[in-house]
Amino acid sequence: MNKQQARDLIENKLPEKRFKHSLRVADTAIKLAQIYGGDVDKAEYAGILHDFCKYDDLGSMYQIVQQHELDTSLLSFGSEILHGPVCAALMRTEYGIDDPEILSAIAYHTTGRAQMTKTEKIVFIADYIEPARQIPGVEEIREMAYNQGSLDRTVYEISKRTVLHLISNDITVFNSTIECLNYYNYSEERIEDD
Ligand SMILES: [Fe+2]
Ligand SMILES: [Fe+2]
Repeated sequence: MNKQQARDLIENKLPEKRFKHSLRVADTAIKLAQIYGGDVDKAEYAGILHDFCKYDDLGSMYQIVQQHELDTSLLSFGSEILHGPVCAALMRTEYGIDDPEILSAIAYHTTGRAQMTKTEKIVFIADYIEPARQIPGVEEIREMAYNQGSLDRTVYEISKRTVLHLISNDITVFNSTIECLNYYNYSEERIEDD
């Protein structure tokens, strides 16, 4: 699938607002890949495609989790957690995307995880900071991502804010989000991955 086909696929499936979000995530991912020496093409593909399953019905997402033997702990979560891994499975099996880096960036774009690839980090961050996002404090994260030279630190700050938000709303936190938080924790000495 070329990039125009990827864009068309998203435009034909998602509401306009989500389609435009996808394009903004792709553009943001390109910028981050340029800044951090990542793979611009892979970042763009993953950005365009990441939310393809965002509004799929839960029943069909559960089916894909079982069919493709994804992590069964996903089954206790809703579409907000499921749409990433389900999209990656569909892209691989139905749409011929076979690049593991694009697929994993799609799979982990919401939850993050420990030991992310550079493309995973880029898409995870781009989804949080794309220009239309108005999450409180997002400006600080944008400045960190664009000017402070550390993908790892930015991933940590995003995970921390996400976990705090989830906990304060009594929402269960998915395991890989906690693992991401712990892995990128800057209060401990750790060597930068990127
Ligand atoms: Fe998403
Ligand atoms: Fe998104």
